[in-house]
Amino acid sequence: MQTVTTIADVRAQVADWKRQGLRVAFVPTMGNLHAGHISLVTEARRRADRVVASIFVNPTQFGPSEDFDAYPRTLAADQEKLAAASCDLLFAPTVDEMYPRANSTWVDVDQLGDFLCGANRPGHFRGVTTVVSKLLHIVQPDIACFGEKDFQQLAIIRRMVEDLFFPVEIVGVDTAREDNGLAMSSRNGYLSAAEKQQAATLQQVLQAMCAAIEAGESDFRALESKYSQTLSDKGFKVDYLTVADADTLAPAQLPHRPLVIAVAAKLGSTRLIDNVRVGVERDR
Ligand code: PAJ
Repeated sequence: MQTVTTIADVRAQVADWKRQGLRVAFVPTMGNLHAGHISLVTEARRRADRVVASIFVNPTQFGPSEDFDAYPRTLAADQEKLAAASCDLLFAPTVDEMYPRANSTWVDVDQLGDFLCGANRPGHFRGVTTVVSKLLHIVQPDIACFGEKDFQQLAIIRRMVEDLFFPVEIVGVDTAREDNGLAMSSRNGYLSAAEKQQAATLQQVLQAMCAAIEAGESDFRALESKYSQTLSDKGFKVDYLTVADADTLAPAQLPHRPLVIAVAAKLGSTRLIDNVRVGVERDR
């Protein structure tokens, strides 16, 4: 696998593949790769002839009190994992390459960003959509893979691509989990062994809420308070636990809409997120 750091180099390689009629898939990441990221690469590999991954810890999506400086940077280990997953090209630019001067142009998706994580992380999704726009313009892939784990991010990117006619197909990939159900995340590395066990409660609570709704419970606000309390009792600081309309991401009012239950909660200083779709076949 080749690693390039400049926009010119990644464009030249992808243009060469396109001239040969090859289909190119793209997997953007912030690095510190785990099996969840690799499942995106595997899906990309399955759907295309060439796979490009990127590693870029994007400063504009971190708030002033968030972990930009502390975010784990593990390039050598990441390169090995990508090569083992048959990734063809890694784009690992510097901040100066992606933001050569103070950025003036931002991509902002209305409404979908107002709920869930957007409510507590002002500017976060604007940073994500702006950097993903830059990356899609640089790489110009046929398809791009994103994880369902970041359900809101995926919904916002789908909407941006639709509204702005980006010529790319967005593919959502299932959440990869630890044996105890905890969604894999780069931030899990911040958790102690005991906290990792405790963190499995998030998925258990989502499954319990999902089962209750599937059994006919329609008082979503009551469910949210009951299970927020369960999480608080188990030591979590809950940012939100919401039964949301899966299309608008607003708190759901009606049971017959497609629903997603989404949670963000802190364990110690580590912020974890997870979600489950209601009424969708699951293997757990
Ligand atoms: P990052 O957190 O590194 O995640 C990169 C991709 O991996 C995202 O699409 C995310 O949803 C997916 N992912 C993370 N954990 C996963 C899991 N357990 N199972 C399946 N997929 C998983 O998300 C970002 O980076 C950034 O916001 C980015 C889109 C790269 C823009 O900077």
